[in-house]
Amino acid sequence: MSEQKVMVLTGASRGIGHATVKRFSAEGWRVLTCSRQAFDPRCPWPGGEENHIQIDLASPDATIAAIATIKEKLGGRLNALVNNAGISPKGPGGARLNTLETDLRTWGHVFHVNFFASIVLARGLKDELSAARGSVVNVTSIAGARVHPFAGAAYATSKAALAALTREMAHDFGPMGVRVNAIAPGEIETSILSPGTEKIVEKLPLQRLGQPKEVADVIWFLCSDQASYISGSEIEVNGAQHV
Ligand SMILES: NC(=O)c1ccc[n+]([C@@H]2O[C@H](COP(=O)([O-])OP(=O)(O)OC[C@H]3O[C@@H](n4cnc5c(N)ncnc54)[C@H](OP(=O)(O)O)[C@@H]3O)[C@@H](O)[C@H]2O)c1
Repeated sequence: MSEQKVMVLTGASRGIGHATVKRFSAEGWRVLTCSRQAFDPRCPWPGGEENHIQIDLASPDATIAAIATIKEKLGGRLNALVNNAGISPKGPGGARLNTLETDLRTWGHVFHVNFFASIVLARGLKDELSAARGSVVNVTSIAGARVHPFAGAAYATSKAALAALTREMAHDFGPMGVRVNAIAPGEIETSILSPGTEKIVEKLPLQRLGQPKEVADVIWFLCSDQASYISGSEIEVNGAQHV
């Protein structure tokens, strides 16, 4: 029997991350999950509790410290790192935080979770990724490439930076045999969506929200051998939201 593959996934407790754990677990992978909350026993995958690392990715010190714990749990090989955790803070009454009003602390907080944690984890686990000739998937957003009516400026710029980081990492990790890609979701049915999204959805060519599973399937593809010559790419998963 071949060795069980293993993934580290941030932000596994809800939404896209939750669907991703289910997809990979169903394929027989072991999934190490990272998020702020303790493991929720309602999560339906096997071995969830001992494979969960409770961590606030907004804290660089906590993220760097967690590398040692993750390494111990991995035992030398990592087939996939999926940087999925993300936050999109709003102003009072759900207002969009723009470039004029977002305070720098909020901006920095968003960057730590959405951007810096991804590179801290990836370079901290580079030996394990290289040993397995694994891959990294960074979850960006449609908001990284265009002004979005609800996603704020801190969120949008963090996702644009994460897309650029994906190219830079693909360049640097490639010689280690590690592929690095991004996926950019559009409007996916999760708790991150804002009221009013239904107005956007009416105008989408596919006329519906995307489902977390439809994003998880693309992450699965990028981590599989079917994507063995894809690196440095950002795949859009948005039901043709551009037209
Ligand atoms: N839904 C969409 O339409 C959409 C569109 C474009 C991009 N995206 C991106 O897709 C990714 C997943 O989004 P989602 O909609 O599934 O989000 P979600 O339902 O809000 O889930 C976010 C996840 O991130 C974790 N998280 C948040 N802050 C964290 C922190 N400081 N440290 C550790 N974990 C943290 C949360 O777990 P805890 O609360 O336990 O920490 C949760 O598991 C995000 O990067 C988001 O920007 C989503």
